[in-house]
Amino acid sequence: PGVSGGVEGDDGVRRRDFINIAAVSAAGVGGLAVVYPLVSQMAPSADVLAESTTELDISSLEAGQSVKAVFRKQPVFVRHLTQAEIEQANAVNVSSLRDPQTLEERTQAGHGNILVVMGVCTHLGCVPLGAQEGENKGEFGGYFCPCHGSHYDTAARIRKGPAPSNLAVPEYQFTSDTTIVIG
Ligand code: FES
Repeated sequence: PGVSGGVEGDDGVRRRDFINIAAVSAAGVGGLAVVYPLVSQMAPSADVLAESTTELDISSLEAGQSVKAVFRKQPVFVRHLTQAEIEQANAVNVSSLRDPQTLEERTQAGHGNILVVMGVCTHLGCVPLGAQEGENKGEFGGYFCPCHGSHYDTAARIRKGPAPSNLAVPEYQFTSDTTIVIG
C-alpha cells in the first residue's frame, strides 16, 4: 500500500504540474497574440521604410477636426487645433513637463494650429485615442492611451501615465497652405 500510495501521489503532482503549465502556456500565447500586432508596428520592415512620403489634403479640415493618415504603415494624427486647445497648450509651464517642448516647437511656422503627430504611444506602441471630447474625453484634452493609461495634452505632450515622451512629430512639410507631405 505504501508503494501504490506513493505512485498515486506522484501522478497527482504530475497532473497538477501539467495543468499549471498548460494554463501558463495558454496565457502566454494569448499575451503574445495581443502584444505582437502592437510591437510589430514599431519595427517596420525594410520595404515599408522605403516608402518615401504620404501626401494629405487638409483643405476641408476645420478647427476641432482631426484626420488620420498612414505613414510607413503607422497612424499619423493631424488635428486642426481650436483656439481653446492652443491656449490650453500655451498655458502650461513647459519646464514642468516630462518631455519639455512648446506647442510652437511641435508645429511649423505659419501653421501653428495644425498638429501632426505619430499615433503611436511612446510607452509600448499602442494607438492612443483622441481625448478631446465625447466618451474618451481625457483630463488633458489631447490623447489617451487605453493600454496603460498615458494621457497626452492638446500639444500631444505626455502629461500622465507611463509613456516616457511626447507623441513623436514626424518629418513633414506644407507644400501649400492646405497640403501636407509627411516623410
Ligand atoms: Fe500606451 Fe502603454 S502603450 S500607455
